[in-house]
Amino acid sequence: MNAHIIGTGSFLPEKVITNFDLAERMETSDEWIVSRTGIRQRHIAVEESTAGMAAEAAQRALTDAGMQAGELEMILLATVSPDHIVPSAACEVQAMLGAVNAVAIELNAACSGFVFALNTAQAYIRAGIYTKILVVGVETLSKLVDWTDRSTCILFGDGAGAAVVTASENRGIMDFIQFSDGAKGEALLCDARPLHNLFVRQELKQEYVKMDGQEVFKFAVRRVSESIDQLLERNGLSSGEIDCYILHQANARIIASVIKHLKADADKFPTNVERCGNTSGASVPLLLDELNRAGHLKEGDRVIMSGFGGGLTWGSIYMVW
Ligand code: COA
Repeated sequence: MNAHIIGTGSFLPEKVITNFDLAERMETSDEWIVSRTGIRQRHIAVEESTAGMAAEAAQRALTDAGMQAGELEMILLATVSPDHIVPSAACEVQAMLGAVNAVAIELNAACSGFVFALNTAQAYIRAGIYTKILVVGVETLSKLVDWTDRSTCILFGDGAGAAVVTASENRGIMDFIQFSDGAKGEALLCDARPLHNLFVRQELKQEYVKMDGQEVFKFAVRRVSESIDQLLERNGLSSGEIDCYILHQANARIIASVIKHLKADADKFPTNVERCGNTSGASVPLLLDELNRAGHLKEGDRVIMSGFGGGLTWGSIYMVW
């Protein structure tokens, strides 16, 4: 059995900040941001919480799937920006939905979060343990970003996306591949609470996201291309046989480099990075929901999803829609 997506949903905060808005507050310009990243605007949480956005996206996915929250057996929620350490956003979403029969688990794999969570759902479904799983990717990156650091704050946005998966014999995830390289973790770093106890009071060193932009750029282009190549090869497919590539929306130039490497048709790589910025773990399900609602994905379409980011982590999925 395969994990097959039967419903999608997403949520974006109401407040939009354009590059022009940013240029009024810091030394930057629309031209610089668009030429380096493709980003024109991003949504930023003002009233919204991480769990609230996730629950809204999840409810929309359940409605799309025609499923009641009480039917869910598991909630897998990917985030690096929860509202609390305890309870997890996964448990908060369970409560908000009234998904009383679901076990709720949170997963931190940064921008690969949704892809890794979907792979985890696949493993549970393959093992025959569960058949009805909600997978969510949600981020409020705006609270982890240093708004005085123009090289990072222009990149990120907030939002949530969700998918309901059930077991299918012929459709859904056919194969996946996923990796981590913890030795390169410093390339994209944000500290948690430091050690404060009876014996030690450490200072918080890296309160906000710090990134080696060029290192991360090179990593992303190389590893995403490589993982897609591997997935295509072991499934006997050429890049032209894929109908749609849903890549993590970090940067339009990274996506363009992957297209060039695969010698693929650019029309098969839809984007929303220009409107949403990099929403980390939320970006793949946000784009997926946009495509699904627009009727862009047809039964039997071959789809590749790729996530990559902090950890470092990366991975790709091959699924039949
Ligand atoms: N506006 C104007 N100038 C800026 C700027 C901004 N928002 N941010 C940085 N600059 C300046 C720098 O200060 C530097 O100036 P200097 O030459 O006077 O020192 C110059 O632009 C070049 O900086 P650099 O960091 O070399 O730029 P870059 O071409 O590497 O682009 C990124 C920066 C972040 C856009 C690029 O490295 C990138 O896209 N990396 C991948 C990031 C990513 O996607 N991360 C998430 C992965 S999940």
